Amino acid sequence: MVKVNENFLKLEKNYLFINIAKKVKAFSEAHPDADIIRMGIGDVTLPIAQCVIDAMKKGADEMAVKETFRGYEDSGAGYDFLREAISGYYGSFGVTVKPSEIRVNDGAKSDCGNIVDIFSDDNTVLITDPAYPVYVDTNRMNGRKVIFADSNEENGFAAMPDKSVHADIIYLCSPNNPTGSVYTAAQLKEWVDYALENGAVMIYDSAYEAFITEDGVPRSIFAIEGARKCAIEMCSLSKTAGFTGMRCGYTVIPEELTVKASDGSEVSIAQLWGRRQGSKFNGVSYPVQCAAAAVFSEEGLRQTKENIKYYQNNARVIASALDEMGIKYTGGKNSPYIWLKCPDGMGSWDFFDRLLEEANVVGTPGAGFGKNGEGWFRLTAFGDADRTREAMERIKKMSF
Ligand code: MLT
Repeated sequence: MVKVNENFLKLEKNYLFINIAKKVKAFSEAHPDADIIRMGIGDVTLPIAQCVIDAMKKGADEMAVKETFRGYEDSGAGYDFLREAISGYYGSFGVTVKPSEIRVNDGAKSDCGNIVDIFSDDNTVLITDPAYPVYVDTNRMNGRKVIFADSNEENGFAAMPDKSVHADIIYLCSPNNPTGSVYTAAQLKEWVDYALENGAVMIYDSAYEAFITEDGVPRSIFAIEGARKCAIEMCSLSKTAGFTGMRCGYTVIPEELTVKASDGSEVSIAQLWGRRQGSKFNGVSYPVQCAAAAVFSEEGLRQTKENIKYYQNNARVIASALDEMGIKYTGGKNSPYIWLKCPDGMGSWDFFDRLLEEANVVGTPGAGFGKNGEGWFRLTAFGDADRTREAMERIKKMSF
C-alpha cells in the first residue's frame, strides 16, 4: 500500500496565507457589507511599468512569427539577454555576479522551497525566528532538523549567530520578511564567517533589496567578503517590479561554492542545482523573460523606482499612525513591511480578529512566522494609498 510522506502530517494544516484567506472569506460571507481593506499578504497593487509590458507584448508577438518563434530555451537557466541584464543590475550596486552564475526561475518561493532537494536530509538547518514560513515548512517536509536563532525586540529582530551551535544550512532574509529589519554589512560579515567556520551553506533571500534606503545596508550577500564561498542568493521581481502575477525571479550560485562529498570529491553546488532544475523545471516563458529584462533597462528601473516610492510612502503613513497611537514597530524604512507590537499585550491572532471585526482591516499575525512573532503583527505597505490611509484612520479609532 502506498505510504505518504508523513512529515507533511506534522505541518500546520494550511500554509499561513491560505489560512488567512479562508478566515477573511468566512468573515466576508458573514458580513457581506463589510468594506475589507487587505494589508495581509505581501501582494503588490500598482500596475507593471509600461515599458515592461511593451517588452512582454513584443516577446509574445515574436512567438507568432516562424522566424522568431521560440520553443525550449537550451540551457534551462534563462535567456542570456536576461542573465546579462541581471548581472548588470548587480554591477549597478557594486557587486560582481557573472551571467553564468545566475539561473532564472518563476519567483523566489519556488527556488527557496526546491533548493532543499540538493542537500542531504541529515543536515541541521538554522533559521532565524520569525521567518518566511517557506524555509521551515520545506525543510520539515523532508524531516530535517530545524533549529532557530531568535530575532526579538531585544536584538532589533536581527538574530546573530551563536558560535557554540553548529549548523549546516543557514537561512537569512534581509530586508527581513516579516519584521522589516535589516542586517548591516558588519552583521552579515559575522554570519558569513560563521557559515565558513561551520562549512555551512547560507541561503540568502534578498527579495526585498529594492526597498533599501539606508546607506551601509548591503543589497546582496555578495557585497560581503567570503560570501562567494558559502552563499546562495535568491531574489525575485515580485516585489521589485510588481511581478507577483507574472512570476519571475533568479538565483545566484557562485562558481566558488563547492562542498566535499563523502568520497572526498569537490561538488559544485551550481552544478547540482542545474542538474536538479534540468530534470524538474523547464524554465520561464519567453515573453515573461523579455518583460523581466526590460525591468533592468534604464526606463524600466526608473518606472519601477516610482512604484517603490509609492509603497514607501504608504509605509510612512502606517508608521506615522502607529507613532500617533504610541504603538511600537520595526520596519518600513528599508522594507514594505511594518512589524508592530500588538497593543495591550494581545496575542497575534486575537489582534487579527479584533482588527478584522472592528476595523475590517486584514493583517498577518506574527505568530504565523514563528514563536518570536507571537504578540506581533505585520502590515504591508503594498496597498492602494487611499485605502492604506483609510485603514490607519479606522485603526486609530479603535480603543486599546
Ligand atoms: C508574504 O506576504 O510574505 C509573501 O509574499 C507571501 C508568499 O510568498 O507566500
